[in-house]
Amino acid sequence: MRNVSPSLLSADFADLGAQITTVEKAGSTRLHLDVMDGNFVPNITFGPMITEAIRRLTKQTLDVHLMITEPDRYLKQFVAAGADVVIIHYEASSDIERDLAEIKRLGAVPGIAINPDSKFDVLSPYVCLFDYFLVMSVFPGFGGQSFKTATLDTMRAAVRATKDHPFLVAVDGGVNLETIEAVFATGIDIGVVGSALFKADDIPARLAQLQGTD
Ligand code: DX5
Ligand code: ZN
Repeated sequence: MRNVSPSLLSADFADLGAQITTVEKAGSTRLHLDVMDGNFVPNITFGPMITEAIRRLTKQTLDVHLMITEPDRYLKQFVAAGADVVIIHYEASSDIERDLAEIKRLGAVPGIAINPDSKFDVLSPYVCLFDYFLVMSVFPGFGGQSFKTATLDTMRAAVRATKDHPFLVAVDGGVNLETIEAVFATGIDIGVVGSALFKADDIPARLAQLQGTD
């Protein structure tokens, strides 16, 4: 079964509790939360307060994707809000080593994301410092964008690197019924899916299709 992590960015926030219950009952075990600051990316979503409310709605693993400049300012608040994995952006941190160490010290799993035009090599100096790697297969900021095929090479490079230092490899952006097979064929662990899941008429049926269990 493919491990599909629903991205709440495309969920109906007026009915968030029901949407979370729907995907949980359909077999989801980890949710993806997109935090955007209107600075690192040209969009604004939510912060620790909504994260904490989501924490109270579910026992699923919460992967919190911080698309914010200088994420060190908020790491403590997101871990206190109940984030299990905190993912910073390579392009947004002024001290990656410090920030990954701080996430670990606070008791969460340290994660890092890179934009689709960055190569996995940029993370070579930090490879022992994170346990979750997020390949962005679109430029961050919005759901519903087209998958960038060139990022399949980044996925393969990351999967090769896990042979020496184990970490989870996740992929975020444009993952849907057309692209999911190619994505998982690279050997990655987790596919984050937003619009291709929450915009479906039948969310449980779509999750099963994406997982390959239908
Ligand atoms: C994009 C976000 C994604 C987004 C993906 O900046 O990080 O998590 O929800 O949405 P889809 O699956 O629609 O590309
Ligand atoms: Zn994301």
